Amino acid sequence: MKTPILETERLILRPISLDDAAALQKHFNDWEIIKYLSGNVPWPYPDYGTNDFLENIALPNIKKGRDIMWVLVPKDGADKGNPIGNIHYRLVSQVKDSDRGFWLGRAYHGQGLMTEAVCATQDYMFFKYGLTSFRVRNVQSNIGSHRIKEKTGASFIRLEDEPCGHIDGPTEIWEVTRENWAKIRGWD
Ligand SMILES: CC(C)(COP(=O)(O)OP(=O)(O)OC[C@H]1O[C@@H](n2cnc3c(N)ncnc32)[C@H](O)[C@@H]1OP(=O)(O)O)[C@@H](O)C(=O)NCCC(=O)NCCS
Repeated sequence: MKTPILETERLILRPISLDDAAALQKHFNDWEIIKYLSGNVPWPYPDYGTNDFLENIALPNIKKGRDIMWVLVPKDGADKGNPIGNIHYRLVSQVKDSDRGFWLGRAYHGQGLMTEAVCATQDYMFFKYGLTSFRVRNVQSNIGSHRIKEKTGASFIRLEDEPCGHIDGPTEIWEVTRENWAKIRGWD
């Protein structure tokens, strides 16, 4: 299924492409972002890290149908028309084990932008793509990511001892289901 362009109040969410590499690299090369992401993301971050990630990992996985990935593009402001972050769903199966990840440039934190992106992409993933549930995780100290989950219908499942990123600390495991999201949207 072709990844659609989605629109929220302040953002266009469009499928990621290799042309986005330079703009994403500018926002992504930041310890305050990378410290919360998988230990597979190198730090210090290499100059062409985003280009290499897109070319060798993300775009091949998207082509194989394993990942769906959007960039967040503001409709207004200094970065109007340019990507400032991304949100992706890794598809393991329709009913379990799929998961989601996201990051946003630091200049844009705390304005509710990722919450907008999560709502729009969850609508798509559950009601158009047909996913029934997926898991999400964050290191416990990642308050922003924790709070987004609380605001967007995720149910807390358990705390695991293993860290899930570069920094130490237990990992919160959550589940998001179509059933619960439909209730929150008033579409059940
Ligand atoms: C996590 C991240 C995507 C959040 O994006 P965002 O657009 O700032 O998120 P939102 O503004 O939609 O929501 C964040 C919420 O967390 C709250 N928050 C963020 N940091 C906080 C802190 N240190 N203490 C208390 N609340 C905090 C915000 O106030 C907001 O809640 P509110 O709407 O109730 O006020 C962004 O911080 C980021 O990219 N972080 C680095 C990468 C990352 O952590 N990715 C996820 C890995 S699991």
